[in-house]
Amino acid sequence: MDEFSKLGVSAVTLKKLKQIGVESIEDLLMFNPEELSERAGISEETAFKIIRNARHLVKRRRVYSALELKKQGRCFFTTGCKALDDLLGGGIETCAITEFVGEFGSGKTQLCHQLCVTVQLPREKGGLEAKAVFIDTEETFSYERIESISKRFEISSEFVLKNIYVLKTMTVDELEHTIIEELPPILKEGVKLIVVDSIIALYRAEFKGRGMLAARQQRLNYLIDWLKRYMRNYSLAVVYTNQVLQSASGFLVMKLPAGGNILAHAATHRVYLRRLKDCYEAEVFDSPRLPKRKAVYKITERGIEDV
Ligand code: GTP
Ligand code: MG
Repeated sequence: MDEFSKLGVSAVTLKKLKQIGVESIEDLLMFNPEELSERAGISEETAFKIIRNARHLVKRRRVYSALELKKQGRCFFTTGCKALDDLLGGGIETCAITEFVGEFGSGKTQLCHQLCVTVQLPREKGGLEAKAVFIDTEETFSYERIESISKRFEISSEFVLKNIYVLKTMTVDELEHTIIEELPPILKEGVKLIVVDSIIALYRAEFKGRGMLAARQQRLNYLIDWLKRYMRNYSLAVVYTNQVLQSASGFLVMKLPAGGNILAHAATHRVYLRRLKDCYEAEVFDSPRLPKRKAVYKITERGIEDV
């Protein structure tokens, strides 16, 4: 807590900051003053002062020329399936949100498991040699699947399992608590992937009916905002899954991603997964840089594979 002495706050306030999981000056910069005040139980004035001082202490560059950005380039890790990597412009992108939308059985959960393995692969095999966080809202995490996928990639399953933090959440409140308060110390352990499977299930279950829609969307938006803060702060990849809604109008049955406007704008890349007759199909349907294209894959005991 030595660096904190430069913030010019009392020992009591420092203790309060520590209690809400703030361990470094960088952590402070993820909060806005109102949030810090409310969470830590300090006055808004103090919170404002702390954050302003923190910004002075952490001399983070915010302005880059476009050429510098180009030279830095983008960072990806492999999905373990060549067709999907090509579709996604090189794999799963860090500092971006990738959303996989699909009906039941389209492979969303399988892919989430696989990514928790491939992010750990050595760099020469397309990985980032990093850890993964799997936020399980549907009770579908399976260490057995991780074991068989690890075997395929010839990486020790014990090593892989050790480097996946599984957070199980049963309610929206618990999900928010987990993401906002329990994740920060874990993310410092070299995590480059946060998976949320699924982002919408708990919200759909708890906020029922039109009357609760506005509140639901607001809460969902806030949660995703925190995922984005982590994404920027730790340069990691966020991947979440989303369900499909069926709405009938006359003879037409429309299939739409759930989550309305909020999810429509939240992700960087949105990918639709479908089950075909004897294989599966992924289609990029909304992305600022990827063309609208399709790729096919299959699901086996070994995970998601090229056809
Ligand atoms: P929901 O969560 O219900 O919306 O579906 P999902 O999109 O997450 O589906 P999931 O990823 O669980 O994919 C399920 C499909 O993967 C199943 O229908 C199986 O066909 C296939 N699958 C899962 N495990 C195995 C396996 O070990 N071997 C084979 N061959 N297929 C598997
Ligand atoms: Mg699933």
